[in-house]
Parts: sequence; structure tokens; C-alpha cells
Amino acid sequence: MKRIAVYPGSFDPVTNGHIDIIRRSSRTFDKVYVAVLVNSSKKPLFSIEQRMEWIRKVTQGLDNVEVDTFSGLLVDYMREKGAGIIIKGLRAVSDFEYEFQMALMNHKLSKDIETLFMMTSAKYQYLSSSIVKEVARHGGCLDGLVPDEMKEEILKKAQQVLNPDVK
Ligand code: PNS
Repeated sequence: MKRIAVYPGSFDPVTNGHIDIIRRSSRTFDKVYVAVLVNSSKKPLFSIEQRMEWIRKVTQGLDNVEVDTFSGLLVDYMREKGAGIIIKGLRAVSDFEYEFQMALMNHKLSKDIETLFMMTSAKYQYLSSSIVKEVARHGGCLDGLVPDEMKEEILKKAQQVLNPDVK
């Protein structure tokens, strides 16, 4: 039986921490769908298309990884793809409560779906999309946080939208 997993998230934008989880997942599962989904509690900075394009670019060499999007419930998307495993990255204890709640809710919605938590690599423990946007908004250095080819676009957009008074 094929082991099909889904790595869902907002990826607004994808960080080196996310990419590390995608790489490690692609070695663990036969197929990994990276699903760019809507988190109704967040207002995204980048369009779904832009986020998907970035992830596609940086996962080009990973043949069993597919980048996709879906606008409904994660469990419905998983059923459509025949996937049984949700992959989530866990950084610190602070992630746990929210992720625990989501894992239990997804399991309640679909009993045959399990959430598998991967510990984020030590060097990315402090990294999140939100902190990348915060640094970018003030024109800070994004080296090592996101792939080099994304840096300029992130800095430009974050300053235009999040810091509109800065010329
Ligand atoms: O990167 P994020 O913002 O923490 O990812 C959260 C995301 C997008 C995975 C989550 O909000 C989600 O699964 N959204 C789709 C709708 C859904 O199924 N919600 C969870 C069940 S209540």
C-alpha cells in the first residue's frame, strides 16, 4: 500500500524550516502533497499562486512531492487524494496546544486520518512565516530564513503592504 501524506499550511511565505520538513517527509513517504490551504484566522500577505510557485521552485528535485491547494476542510482534501497522514512541524511547546487541538478535530472529522508531528530541526526552531514578515517589514536581513531567490520579493511586498509609510 502506498503511504500518501499531506503537509498542509499557509506557507505565507514558505521558510527554510518548512522546506526542511518537506525534504524529510519526501524520504519517509511514497507521496507528499504540500497543500497551501486557507487559515481563516490569518490575513495572507502573498497570493495562493505566488506561495505555490515558490514551493514548486524549491522542491523541484523532489519527484514524489506535489504542490497543491484546496479551499475546504483538510480532511475532505485528504479523502480526495487517498491520503491518511497529516504531517506537521513542531517547533516548541508553544506550538503544541494549537496543533493538538487541530489534530484531535481532524481525527474526529475523519477517524482514519492520523497526524504525525516532525520535530523541526534545531537550527529552524525560532523560524516562522510571521517572523520572516516582521523582519522583512523593517528591511532586515533574510539570509538563511528563506531561499535566496525569494528574498527580494518578500522584502519588497512586506515593506509596501505592512509598512506603507516607509518610502
Ligand atoms: O500554517 P498554518 O496557518 O498553521 O496552517 C493551518 C491550516 C491551513 C493547515 C489549517 O487552518 C487548515 O487545515 N485549514 C483548512 C480548514 C480546516 O480543515 N481546518 C481544520 C479543521 S477545524
